[in-house]
Amino acid sequence: MSLTVAVTGPTGEIGLPLMDVLERDEAVGSVLGMARRPFEPALEGWEKISYRRGDILDRGSLAALFDGADVAVHLAFAIFGAREQTRRVNLEGSRNVFEAAVAAGVKRLVYASSVAAYGFHPDNPQPLTEEVPPRGSVGFYYSAQKAELEATLSEIVSGSEVDVYVVRPCVVAGPRATMLIEQVVKSARLGDPLPALRRGLGRLPLVRPVLPNAGIPIQLVHHDDVARALAAAIAGDGPPGAYNLAGEGLVGVDEIAAAIGWRSVRVPSPAVGLGAGLARRLSFVSPQLEWAAAFATPVLMDAGKARRELGWDPHFDAAETLIQTAISAREAGLLD
Ligand SMILES: NC(=O)c1ccc[n+]([C@@H]2O[C@H](COP(=O)([O-])OP(=O)(O)OC[C@H]3O[C@@H](n4cnc5c(N)ncnc54)[C@H](OP(=O)(O)O)[C@@H]3O)[C@@H](O)[C@H]2O)c1
Repeated sequence: MSLTVAVTGPTGEIGLPLMDVLERDEAVGSVLGMARRPFEPALEGWEKISYRRGDILDRGSLAALFDGADVAVHLAFAIFGAREQTRRVNLEGSRNVFEAAVAAGVKRLVYASSVAAYGFHPDNPQPLTEEVPPRGSVGFYYSAQKAELEATLSEIVSGSEVDVYVVRPCVVAGPRATMLIEQVVKSARLGDPLPALRRGLGRLPLVRPVLPNAGIPIQLVHHDDVARALAAAIAGDGPPGAYNLAGEGLVGVDEIAAAIGWRSVRVPSPAVGLGAGLARRLSFVSPQLEWAAAFATPVLMDAGKARRELGWDPHFDAAETLIQTAISAREAGLLD
């Protein structure tokens, strides 16, 4: 059967690669995407994908988006911003999306949550499986909102016939997803006590910016692999439920620094802890700094369930994904 798919947030770092995969997916008949910016799918050479502008805060736009859809996919989100600013789009907007999808009678609802939903708790097991409850971290708006939203979603769909798939990717990267590197560059500049001096030094040959490395590695997943997992969920491959998504392997701050042509300096982890505390206090200056807190606690996921039950077969490991991202960031001038 040919599926009709409706997607919020098709123009983002995950949305565009997903559109690419769905365009080539024989199980999919048509896709309608909705976000706020102007966007023309035909310019990408896509024929199955159509697009309309709309805001997830507008219930009328959502009702029209999901009308006649077999599958609703929710990707629209405000990842960066102040706690209160993001709350409206992320909590009120997502609640609108879930309610509209249930009211439209879709068969399946696919939502991109995040590793952050688990929270950054030292007592969480490593690696995390889907059995661990998503508790969120109160001190980090994105994590708290992701956890709250998973609870909201369960409440909205309970008693309905909708099959719900929640994917929890780790940091998404790849040539079309350079957010990680943009944030590393921004945080390094914001956290720098002597930016003018560093900028001056940075102009000198052989003096490269430095990243503090507390030895906490992270997982990465390639955007095309996330798109493949979402496509499997859209097709209903595997039972409904939560699925962790992470590529094989880990990357450390030293590897991130090397990939972007910077240096890293080994620091003891309490120094990063101190930085994270400072970041929390300074988050009113920049929400980016609140993100630094997330990297002070190791959070690793086991993605075996997606492989076993969704048939997910990621093509890229963390190291390869990092290199592709760094090359793309350099070409885009993000490191100048
Ligand atoms: N990127 C990652 O590393 C990562 C990791 C784990 C989970 N996730 C999750 O995956 C989902 C997609 O992330 P992404 O990386 O693709 O985000 P993104 O690149 O920031 O894209 C966000 C998308 O949402 C749309 N959007 C934002 N506010 C909207 C609104 N009020 N109404 C309608 N559309 C709106 C944006 O388009 P407009 O701005 O034009 O409206 C864009 O299409 C999010 O839930 C995110 O939390 C991402």
